[in-house]
Parts: sequence; C-alpha cells; structure tokens
Amino acid sequence: MKPWKKLLLGLAGIFALTSLAACSSSTNTLDKVKNKGTLTVALNPHFAPFEFKTIQDGKDTIAGADIEIAKAIGDELGVKVKFSEMSFDNVLASVQSGKADIAIAGISVTNERKKVYDFSDSYYTSENVVIVKKDKVNDFTSADSLAKQTVGTQKGSVQETIAKKQLSKASVVSLASNGEMINELKSGQIQAVVLEKAIAEGYIAQNDDLTLASFNLKSDGSDAYAVAIRKGSDDLLKEINAVIKETKESGKFDQWLKEASSYKQSK
Ligand code: ARG
Repeated sequence: MKPWKKLLLGLAGIFALTSLAACSSSTNTLDKVKNKGTLTVALNPHFAPFEFKTIQDGKDTIAGADIEIAKAIGDELGVKVKFSEMSFDNVLASVQSGKADIAIAGISVTNERKKVYDFSDSYYTSENVVIVKKDKVNDFTSADSLAKQTVGTQKGSVQETIAKKQLSKASVVSLASNGEMINELKSGQIQAVVLEKAIAEGYIAQNDDLTLASFNLKSDGSDAYAVAIRKGSDDLLKEINAVIKETKESGKFDQWLKEASSYKQSK
C-alpha cells in the first residue's frame, strides 16, 4: 500500500473513533436511564405527605405523593425506580453531579435554582406557615413578635431565605432534619418553625402541643413544586411532563395526597 493511502486510512480511523466517542458522551439522560434500566431519584423522605417513611403491613416502606409520581415516571419509561435518600441540602446537588437522574422532593421552583437546573411543569402549589407551641400562640401573633426568638427552617430550603427576610428580627437557624426541628420546638429550644402548610399540618395532627401561628407569611413567588433535572435533558423532561399532566388531570395526584395523609410518618 502506498504511504499516502496508509495515512488516509489512518486518518479515517481516527475520525471514526472520535466521532463515536462524541456520540457516546452526548448520550442524553433519557437514553442513559433506559440503558441502565433504572431511574435514580434523589429525595429526603421526611416530608409527609409528599415523601416519608411509614410502616405498611409491618414493613418499613417509603410512601407519599412524590413517591407515586416517581413510580409513574418509572412505569412510563419501563424502568425500575431507585430512591436515593439524602439530606435536603444535597438533593439538588446530586442531580447536578449526575449521581441521581432526577430529584423529586417537594422542590420549589425558584429563579436561582432555574439558573442551574431545569424543572418540569408544576404538580403542586404550596404556602408557607409558622408553627408554634399551642401555649405560645397568643404570644407570637406577628412577625415582629418573634423578635429575639429562635426560628427553625430546613437546611437548603427556600424557607431559610423566607424566614430570614420576613422574620428579620428573629434569629433563624437551619437544621438538616425536619423531625429534629419539630422536637426542638416541642422542647422549647426554638420558638417557631417555618414549613409549608401541608407538611406543618401533618406534624400538628401528630403533636397536640403544636399549632399554626395566627399570622401568615407572604409568598415570595416560589410556591410551585416540580421535578428537577439536569439542564439539557429535554427528552426525559417531556416524558415527565406527560406523566405529571396525566396524574393531575385524572385526579390521581389528589388521590395520592389524600391517601398519604392517612399514613403515619415514622421517625
Ligand atoms: N419546598 C421547599 C424547598 O424546595 C422545601 C422542600 C423540602 N423537601 C424535603 N423533602 N425535605 O426548598
């Protein structure tokens, strides 16, 4: 073979190899999930009625409306769903790093978060409330009445920012676990907790020494819950949006929420 032919063949070979490599690195999240046969979902299951641990038929299990959405997405894609538990402040980061394919954790859509992640259509609208001890409800009747008191929020949540802004005279602390935060409220280490209404109502139903404060917090525009996904995963996002649309329109989502509210959250 003439040397120039060898050179040409060699070049063609290199070209073929590099284009193959380019192809595989551009594999999108949908293909990745389908190839693995598993959808890995990041979550923090201490957030009833959306995602929480409970005992069903004597067995520890994970339940809630977020869990049902994840299962429905898995069914739609024909893959298994793997729940990857972590503290809430790690949930979004694990999508960014690719450890999880998506995150479903009662995640509020904010402009800040939208810079880094893509979000599905919203499946729920939340509202922020303040929980206090029943015997203090007449002392804490306004944002200002919490001046110099300690207020708990979950680490990494939008409630951290909301509390700092709207309860600016209080000292706002953030805790990794909602359960622990509620215990600190009950024991008097902190005087109030900012959570979203559905979650707060769950804790109040299980703790008769707690109640909602009589004043409300203002919306900061981040009330919509959605599934978070790595930017540029449009194919998977389309499938997720189709599932969300169906579960909302068919009334399944409301049914899941209602059912979940009747289970007891275990520690
Ligand atoms: N909606 C709030 C946020 O996105 C709190 C979510 C907390 N979720 C949880 N699974 N603990 O910041």
